[in-house]
Amino acid sequence: IDIFGAERKNSKGLNMNIISESEPFFAALEKYAQTQWQAGPLVNGKTLTGDVVDVVSPFDTTKLVGKVAFADKQAIETAIASADSAFARWTRTPVETRANALQKLADLLEENREELIALCTREAGKSIQDGIDEVREAVDFCRYYAVQAKKMMGKPELLPGPTGELNELFLQGRGIFVCISPWNFPLAIFLGQVSAALAAGNTVIAKPAEQTCLVGYRAVQLAHEAGIPADVLQFLPGTGAVVGSALTADERIGGVCFTGSTGTAKLINRTLANRDGAIIPLIAETGGQNAMVVDSTSQPEQVVNDVVSSSFTSAGQRCSALRVLFLQEDIADRVLDVMKGAMEQLTIGNPSSVKTDVGPVIDATAKANLNAHIDHIKQVGKLINQLELPAGTENGHFVAPTAVEIDSIKVLEKEHFGPILHVIRYKAADLAIVIDEINSTGFGLTLGIHSRNEGHALSLADKVNVGNVYINRNQIGAVVGVQPFGGQGLSGTGPKAGGPHYLTRFVTEKTRTNNI
Ligand code: SER
Repeated sequence: IDIFGAERKNSKGLNMNIISESEPFFAALEKYAQTQWQAGPLVNGKTLTGDVVDVVSPFDTTKLVGKVAFADKQAIETAIASADSAFARWTRTPVETRANALQKLADLLEENREELIALCTREAGKSIQDGIDEVREAVDFCRYYAVQAKKMMGKPELLPGPTGELNELFLQGRGIFVCISPWNFPLAIFLGQVSAALAAGNTVIAKPAEQTCLVGYRAVQLAHEAGIPADVLQFLPGTGAVVGSALTADERIGGVCFTGSTGTAKLINRTLANRDGAIIPLIAETGGQNAMVVDSTSQPEQVVNDVVSSSFTSAGQRCSALRVLFLQEDIADRVLDVMKGAMEQLTIGNPSSVKTDVGPVIDATAKANLNAHIDHIKQVGKLINQLELPAGTENGHFVAPTAVEIDSIKVLEKEHFGPILHVIRYKAADLAIVIDEINSTGFGLTLGIHSRNEGHALSLADKVNVGNVYINRNQIGAVVGVQPFGGQGLSGTGPKAGGPHYLTRFVTEKTRTNNI
């Protein structure tokens, strides 16, 4: 549905089944198969040096993808001072000018799609389909916030003037927004945060996840090329301990937008609370313990399709991914039987191959933690299926897609961010207990429901405390402007990326009463 009329359309992406589109795409992608990228802090438009780190492919750690220089203290200080002094100018720049630069950035992302996808597959280990979706989502964010900013900030809102005075309400940028983004959406979430903050009239210091600095660097280069001034958007690669903590402790910043773990969000919150200066907002989108509830009226083949895509694609490394599948007992055996077969159809391997469904996880730490969890949960529960890792994956951070039956969600003390599905059987009479179990985790990001009883599905949707509910489909891949994305409780402070209220989190409000 074209809900925005002529104002905006979501990007088409690419349909790999249309040969006339896919042939030139794969030919262009091939050009980047061996590219070595270089990145570093981009401060006032200049690439600085620093401690240089090798970037290796998560698919094969013997393969170098490029090098990145991490920001040092001097780079951090210069970036903050420059973004601070650029703010007064940028926030008074007409919103149309800011929006036009973001529209141009969206065009440049599309023009550079193949390089960006190659970066996503080689640096972050994303599959080609995930890379296509990633660029599409980044494009959509830029265009969506450009349009929203013009709607919301183009003119002040006129308020009643009972005694004849003129009352107006203005939305303005807050200052420097520090945008700290995750490695699992190194382009889409990176640019989603940055474009929202810029559209709303903030200057930005972007800190990418340390695992995916090369993608972030290219995105910032394109943003500058699109007309975002170099002092308005600064880029500081580095670790959370050095760059993230220095930025969030600084008195001059006006807000923080963070996507990542709940623990880091809490750490940032404490840092903001303890620093001197103004009280500033934290926009946080964190993890989940996402469930799907399947009742006996549902259609097993459709359920399995949606379970497999929700838990195993992207190697389970989406915050929306399905972690705990609740199956009503009278349908459970049938679903698990079909699911075992469907898991066997998954192709594990090189993310740069179009045949791959499941690529590597991001790094050695993630792999070790996930494998430790699999070993543990196989003892606690009952193994349903664990795929063999194929030859050729030895040098990469691969984790075998695994499904395990457990008794209660309580045995999962935290989110396990990888291709592991936990399954719990429930009795129809115990549905209230299921709802309590899900809510008791404290997380509240996505919920999947499969049921052909609409009343039942809607009642569940109402009772489980989450940000995004999906009925009779998979629970991943929120689309900008269609499924505004974000959770509640331990899953975040509740902003909905790609939704009509997101920009309100990035602004401050000012009224002017004029009695001249
Ligand atoms: N926005 C992503 C999705 O919906 C999650 O990180 O899958």
